[in-house]
Amino acid sequence: MRAFRRASRILRAAFALLLVLAISGCKRASLPDASSPAAQLYVNRCGNCHVPYPPHEMTAAMWDTQVTMMETKMQAAGMRPLSSDERESILEYLKRNAGTE
Ligand code: HEC
Repeated sequence: MRAFRRASRILRAAFALLLVLAISGCKRASLPDASSPAAQLYVNRCGNCHVPYPPHEMTAAMWDTQVTMMETKMQAAGMRPLSSDERESILEYLKRNAGTE
């Protein structure tokens, strides 16, 4: 009985570890340069109402429009607006990794 309990504890720990690895693996796969400061800023400022959209899903021109639209949503939600530096690095990051159509 004791051996069974120990085995199930180990199994549970292994499962939890796998789950964490799977989740962090997915996040990393979906965003380019995920550990760069710009990507992290993007996740922090643009990932709290919805998951951060992968940059390749829109073209550079679409990102221009999208960020402006999202600034309106942030304002409506009473969130701190993007500073011009934040806006610039988020847009630069999105455009650098944007799709082409
Ligand atoms: C205050 C909450 C909020 C924040 C913060 C926010 N968004 Fe959104 N976003 C939304 C909502 C709500 C939608 C759903 C579509 C709509 O209502 O226009 C959306 C939709 C989107 C879409 C999908 C649009 C489409 O046509 O499929 C993109 C891309 C997007 N947001 C990008 C961003 C970016 C980039 C930022 C950071 C600058 C950001 N969002 C920050 C609320 C937010």
